[in-house]
Amino acid sequence: MLDHYQDSGEFLDLLSVDAWRALRAPVRQALTGARADAPAVDLGAGSGRGVQILAESVPGCDIIAVEPSPVQRAALHARIVDDPDLASRTSVVAATAEQVDLPETIGAALAINMIGHLSVADRRMLWQRLAIRLRAGTPLVVNLQPPSEAVAVGEAEFTTVRVGRLRYRGSGSAQPAGPGQVTWRMRYQVLDDEDQPVREVSAEYPWQVMSQAELLDELSAAGFTTEVGQLGIVRAVRA
Ligand SMILES: C[S@@+](CC[C@H](N)C(=O)[O-])C[C@H]1O[C@@H](n2cnc3c(N)ncnc32)[C@H](O)[C@@H]1O
Repeated sequence: MLDHYQDSGEFLDLLSVDAWRALRAPVRQALTGARADAPAVDLGAGSGRGVQILAESVPGCDIIAVEPSPVQRAALHARIVDDPDLASRTSVVAATAEQVDLPETIGAALAINMIGHLSVADRRMLWQRLAIRLRAGTPLVVNLQPPSEAVAVGEAEFTTVRVGRLRYRGSGSAQPAGPGQVTWRMRYQVLDDEDQPVREVSAEYPWQVMSQAELLDELSAAGFTTEVGQLGIVRAVRA
């Protein structure tokens, strides 16, 4: 399995602090209706910031955290293992969303900041697999990341985080790479007190793009009714 995060995974949790600070309330809101009598699933769980929100939002539910990247799983385990509640409820599964053996019934599903990793066919298949498993009234929570079509995106800084004397800066640019696809080129710089580079890592990965209207159409075709919350967080419930 190709790990697009092999080199960059080191930085992702650090650089997602601000993003998750903003996502927290809309994701919690979108999880309304989640049930604890079936496992919750976090697809592409990364370092587990979504797992934490699932655990807070759905007390007592079992959580299946699906994550294909070994580097990301290391961060995920580190987040879980020192928290007795998370450690007792969360099972980490080394798989992709398209390959994972999903439970027969699901009480909530998260797919945050990850859906562009799936091909169109795999994504549509995933909606169907989730639609037949999510219990009535329970949510699939999903978001998109820009761009919404296959266009170039100029180099831009996403965020900078200070840890000790060092600052970690994440930036990136994208280039069209065929119909419905871009290639993101990410740059992670470690800078010292005087803004001098200490280290730099770059990584590239393909990303399937789509507009929110296309996403809502696909979810509707798979039998979901949808609502769009803050920051474009989509809450989809089986119709
Ligand atoms: C940008 S990170 C987001 C992680 C986490 N959901 C978050 O928002 O903090 C994308 C994650 O999706 C994972 N991923 C990549 N391909 C995947 C696939 N086919 N199925 C599930 N997850 C995948 C990556 O390993 C990575 O951890």
